Amino acid sequence: MLERIEKIEAEASAAIGSAAGTAELEQLRVHHLGRKAELTSILRGIAELPGEERGAVGGAANRARKALEELLERRAAELDAAELEQRLAGDTVDVTLPGAPARPAGHLHLITRTTRQIEDVMIGLGYRVVEGPEVEHDYYNFTALNHPPGHPARMLQDTFYVQSHPEVLLRTHTSPVQIRAMETQQPPIFVIVPGKVYRRDSDATHSPMFHQVEGLAIGEGITLADLQGTLEEMLRAIFGPGREARMRPHFFPFTEPSVEFDVSCFQCEGGGELAGGERCNLCKGQGWIEVGGAGMVDPNVLGFVAGNGYDPERVQGFAFGMGVERIAMLRHAVPDLRRFFDNDVRMLEQFS
Ligand code: PHE
Repeated sequence: MLERIEKIEAEASAAIGSAAGTAELEQLRVHHLGRKAELTSILRGIAELPGEERGAVGGAANRARKALEELLERRAAELDAAELEQRLAGDTVDVTLPGAPARPAGHLHLITRTTRQIEDVMIGLGYRVVEGPEVEHDYYNFTALNHPPGHPARMLQDTFYVQSHPEVLLRTHTSPVQIRAMETQQPPIFVIVPGKVYRRDSDATHSPMFHQVEGLAIGEGITLADLQGTLEEMLRAIFGPGREARMRPHFFPFTEPSVEFDVSCFQCEGGGELAGGERCNLCKGQGWIEVGGAGMVDPNVLGFVAGNGYDPERVQGFAFGMGVERIAMLRHAVPDLRRFFDNDVRMLEQFS
């Protein structure tokens, strides 16, 4: 029995000494000192041994167990330290490596840039930028803008209405902000209104959502000649120096008289012909490109805000509106308006 104990101790010591990791060490502990270990059953059986053997066997078995326990503890400490060392070594950061490559930075969308460019010119002329809600009340979008009850723009096929509130709609133009601005500021007023508008249209030059910029100038003695000069200043800033502005008679319910305004073609310099003598494709040989609508604000419109100082007998002025996508398409020769909203980076990054 004593020999056997010696052998167990020798075997176990050797195994513990060469254990390669803490997991293996735990297995050895269970195997040599656990409930089912041989040494454990020897210790358990001491009481059944003949009296003269008990002392020697019990003493040897207990010493062996104690020795093995100490050995396990020491080896565990060694292995823990080694494993920690290894983890730390694996975790090191080489601070001499170059930094992470710069993340690709995006840029403003062409529509945003075009809008801001227009805002900048108008701010230079003394205008203030204001915005209004895209979900609008029928009163601001139509009624106060002098749209008669049967006007086609009011019809379901042209305008998106909120189903549960038939008097609430997605604004079809930025013109309702004319009224909102005049309700909050007395004349004189000079504002520019960028924003999204919505119409039931979809093809290469129309999208159900698009952007407009509206201008409004009301004060004493503001005339159509001021509109002409303002448009010219703005169109030159957008399309280049030397451009001319042209007004053609048109109709809008909220302006009287109303016009559409054009810019002289920046490809053929207004001549309608290219250098080789062929017809200019941009203006279709016209020499002029349509940009937007405008006119003198109808006294009926001012009547809706007369309580805030807009007495149509005392003040007057002009308004204009234009589509931002159209301007961006013209300037950058984009053939299809819908490409602005596909969010294809290959398209967008051409305009950084
Ligand atoms: N709101 C008009 C449109 O969307 C444009 C416009 C604005 C016309 C201001 C006249 C004055 O077509």
